[in-house]
Amino acid sequence: MSVIRAATGADAPAVDALLRSCFLRDAEVRLVQQLAIDGDLVLVLIAEEDGAIAGMIAASRMQVTADTREVAAVALAPLAVARAARGQGVGEALVAAAIAHLRSAGVELAFVLGDPGYYGRFGFEAATARGFDSPYAGDNFMGIRLNDGPCIHAPGTAAHARAFAALGEDA
Ligand SMILES: CC(C)(COP(=O)(O)OP(=O)(O)OC[C@H]1O[C@@H](n2cnc3c(N)ncnc32)[C@H](O)[C@@H]1OP(=O)(O)O)[C@@H](O)C(=O)NCCC(=O)NCCS
Repeated sequence: MSVIRAATGADAPAVDALLRSCFLRDAEVRLVQQLAIDGDLVLVLIAEEDGAIAGMIAASRMQVTADTREVAAVALAPLAVARAARGQGVGEALVAAAIAHLRSAGVELAFVLGDPGYYGRFGFEAATARGFDSPYAGDNFMGIRLNDGPCIHAPGTAAHARAFAALGEDA
């Protein structure tokens, strides 16, 4: 059974190795490192199994506007689960824990870029992200409202932390 906990600095090498093995490139490693350097990381959770890191999820600050106000919003990425630990609910437990944490922290909107077949189960919907100006706009760009705020009538911009720009160049 995995335990979900907040990451510490001591986890960094294992997190880097996990990301490299899951994405088969360095872009996500550099993304998380740069988010941390820029002070844009809001949350990093680890799933630990028998003392080893089985998965991780990160959330980073976004600049989001709607109806001429700023919306407290984050991007949930990356999510990674070690191959040997997949299909056992580790990813689901990480996303659920991240959502609970962000909700209690007062975050209003969380965005993901991913497979609707996976993220739909948590309540992420393309409809929630639709209309926001983002380089990721499309059916795989989804959002979830985490807290009641004023209804959003006119979505504005949904800007990811600047570290994501390098990810696009690498893709
Ligand atoms: C995606 C990932 C995090 C899932 O982790 P996991 O611990 O296996 O996930 P869970 O056990 O919670 O859920 C597994 C379920 O999700 C489904 N699933 C996995 N990836 C999926 C995808 N891309 N689209 C739709 N469903 C997917 C599985 O078929 C399984 O379905 P089931 O519950 O009906 O059996 C893992 O496969 C991974 O690290 N992949 C490589 C990195 C990646 O793509 N990350 C996501 C970036 S947005």
